[in-house]
Amino acid sequence: MTIYLDNAATTWPKPESVYLAMDNFARKSMANPGRSGHHMAKASEKILDDTRIALNRFFEGCSPDRWAFTLNGTDALNMAIKGVVDPGDHIITSDLEHNSVNRPLRALELSGNNSVTRISSDESGTVNPDAFLKAFTPQTKLVVLTHASNVLGTVQPIEAIAHLTRSKGALFLVDAAQTAGILPISLSKLPIDLLAFPGHKGLLGPTGTGNLYVGPRVKMRAWREGGTGGDSRTETQPRDFPYFLEGGTPNIMGIAGLLAGLKWITEKSQNIIHQQENDLAKRLSESIALLPGLRLLGHQNWDKKVATVSFTVEGLEPYEMGNILDSSFDIAIRPGLHCAPQIHLAQSTFPDGAIRASLGPFNSEGDIEALIIALRQVLGG
Ligand SMILES: Cc1ncc(COP(=O)(O)O)c(C=O)c1O
Repeated sequence: MTIYLDNAATTWPKPESVYLAMDNFARKSMANPGRSGHHMAKASEKILDDTRIALNRFFEGCSPDRWAFTLNGTDALNMAIKGVVDPGDHIITSDLEHNSVNRPLRALELSGNNSVTRISSDESGTVNPDAFLKAFTPQTKLVVLTHASNVLGTVQPIEAIAHLTRSKGALFLVDAAQTAGILPISLSKLPIDLLAFPGHKGLLGPTGTGNLYVGPRVKMRAWREGGTGGDSRTETQPRDFPYFLEGGTPNIMGIAGLLAGLKWITEKSQNIIHQQENDLAKRLSESIALLPGLRLLGHQNWDKKVATVSFTVEGLEPYEMGNILDSSFDIAIRPGLHCAPQIHLAQSTFPDGAIRASLGPFNSEGDIEALIIALRQVLGG
């Protein structure tokens, strides 16, 4: 059985209840949602409604209507960035971002209509809120920051940055791809305007799911326009949320799985799952720290990390190590640049990248032991 340590890319396996929810939906009510349709259409719509209610409760948002389903984290981030940025706007972000933030922002910059300031993280892989404060200009419209680095696992000080962004009158977009379902995020306590995340990572839903929360201060353009299963009379996209952002048939089967994932996390307790994952990650990092030629990336203060352990090995390219672990030990890790080239530049691991082991709720001590033994065999020590 494969030892799966690529949970930062997508969690696997999913809880049994996630598979069952999708199977049940597919067999019994896989109709196109519609508020005034037949009973199967209503059952389908109810899954969407129930999931919005569950998300709103889980993240303490202002209303279930403000949660728009997306294809993945990338879709949610594009929807947010392209929906709010106007020509002339300045955007602040960091060097920790995933390409789903880097690329849309770089395209805006290259259009000549927008300017972007990228705040550098320190060696530990953390940004300093003061550097953000200094970067504001009267044109700053948006601050985009990842909650935790997908390369280093380092958690960013989003509380301080949320407050200072609000005090400057700009909008704050948090990329919670690595933290949704893992770390507590309260939208009633923190001034976050836009929260983007996939459903297929920490929330334990299937691939093809994601969401964008749009707070009440945000004025934005629709990202895709089309049928919404409800009011068909208007010539343009209905203005009411969430339909404003949801043209087309959503991935309802996936969302049924996402709802089951959310329930599973709530029942088990997010904090307990996170602690269990971090205990194993800490043990892994401590056990491999002294192996010959191995360099751990980012700080190792596990109170400020999610369960991601990244490292390089002298003389062995990450892809080579990935192949060895996969083919000789049946261990799945993620080598390379992890779609986040700038943080690899900052950590001097560009262009080859690093080896990333990322844990999920179903990893065991045995999984960690297996990776430690494999690394000892490959590296000696
Ligand atoms: C920090 C971060 N942001 C955004 C994304 C994009 O999410 P998705 O793959 O669901 O599009 C990822 C995926 O790895 C990520 O780690």
